[in-house]
Amino acid sequence: MASVVLGVTGGIACYKSAALVSSLVKKDIDVDVIMTENAAKFVTPLTFQTLSRNPVTTDTFGSIKYWEVEHIALAKKADVMVIAPATADVIGKIACGIADDMLTTTVMATKAPVVIAPAMNVNMYENPIVQENMARLKKLGYLFIEPDEGILACGDTGKGRLAEPEEIAGYILKLLQEKQQETSAPRTERKKDLAGKHILVTAGPTVEDIDPVRFISNRSSGKMGYSIAEAAVSRGADVTLVSGPVNLAEPDGVNVVHVRSTGDMLDACEAAFDGCDAVIKAAAPCDFKMAEQSAHKIKKDGSSGITLNLVENPDIIATLGKKKGNKVLVGFAAETRNLEKFAAEKIRKKNLDMIVANNVAQEGAGFDRDTNIVTFIMPDGSSEKFGKMPKSGIADLILDRVVGMLSEKN
Ligand code: PMT
Repeated sequence: MASVVLGVTGGIACYKSAALVSSLVKKDIDVDVIMTENAAKFVTPLTFQTLSRNPVTTDTFGSIKYWEVEHIALAKKADVMVIAPATADVIGKIACGIADDMLTTTVMATKAPVVIAPAMNVNMYENPIVQENMARLKKLGYLFIEPDEGILACGDTGKGRLAEPEEIAGYILKLLQEKQQETSAPRTERKKDLAGKHILVTAGPTVEDIDPVRFISNRSSGKMGYSIAEAAVSRGADVTLVSGPVNLAEPDGVNVVHVRSTGDMLDACEAAFDGCDAVIKAAAPCDFKMAEQSAHKIKKDGSSGITLNLVENPDIIATLGKKKGNKVLVGFAAETRNLEKFAAEKIRKKNLDMIVANNVAQEGAGFDRDTNIVTFIMPDGSSEKFGKMPKSGIADLILDRVVGMLSEKN
């Protein structure tokens, strides 16, 4: 039976953790709950004890329930450790290596993946100290489930609402599944299923200059494409990542080619195309550029406005689609309506093997989120829908399909 240790810290969102425990237990997962002193003021330990059918731990000096020192016992027992809700306080403590209660000592002692689902007031969430602590933890391998946006318990509106229990449960189940595969299958079978393959991935926006100080672009952060590049390299692929301007660190082991405009991206993709086995186009290239860029800053002249004369950019993936041969071509479709209809049109027009359609107007999907909600659409019209998932999880699902298509083609 898989084991999840759930840390619950003091915030009103504690009540959602009860639903999380219930949903995990229904999936036959053994859940141990550790509550901080403040969490126990919001929801009683008895609630979690009843739902998890396990004793609940509330402090380091309570009664010993396991044969080893308790925090070590739970740290060792966990296949996955989750903190939901995670307050700014607990995030700060972990980021600074403070271990002064049962929860933080267990986090410090565990070798299991630690998933943190923050929940707090929007201003606290956006506070640079909290952001820096989270960035530090992400760098150290801690996993985060972003909070949702909406009306918060304090009455403010913004980002800070604990992700829904089903989303957290889905994330945990996926991690457990990955762990299970890692232990049951030889590493080479699962992790290195792209060894010997060269994958070309694109990510981020492109930028079209209007004049020396202004430009046209879009809201792509590059997170989707970078997640794919990271996952592909960890599965043994040789990866070229053609990236528009983004604020993300270059993934280890990936050959990153930085570009600015759609024309630059086309050139970089064409240069890498011959040597690659598959292309995954998660970038959001600008469809239009200036007919003529102004050499100097365009001045206001007091008139009612100006008209920019835009011309269409080349379609990169359609250009590659015309000469694809045996290569696998996966495109994305970013739509705000008629998702499946428009995506199906793109798969035909661009000669793709699969399209990953996302409704970028949907909460939890699209630009600059850590999660996405996608539908895979195939040329024969078949499709598969997925719920809200971290982009890293979607990256692996896409690569699973790419592995299958590559073996069919060869
Ligand atoms: O970067 P993130 O913040 O993580 O956001 C992810 C995302 C929303 C950008 C990503 O999930 C996504 O949908 N990428 C495709 C965005 C897009 O340009 O969609 P489109 O429907 O306009 O284009 C369809 C396909 O053609 C895409 O694969 C695109 O890369 C490609 N294209 C588009 C225009 C162009 N000139 N050349 C292209 O190759």
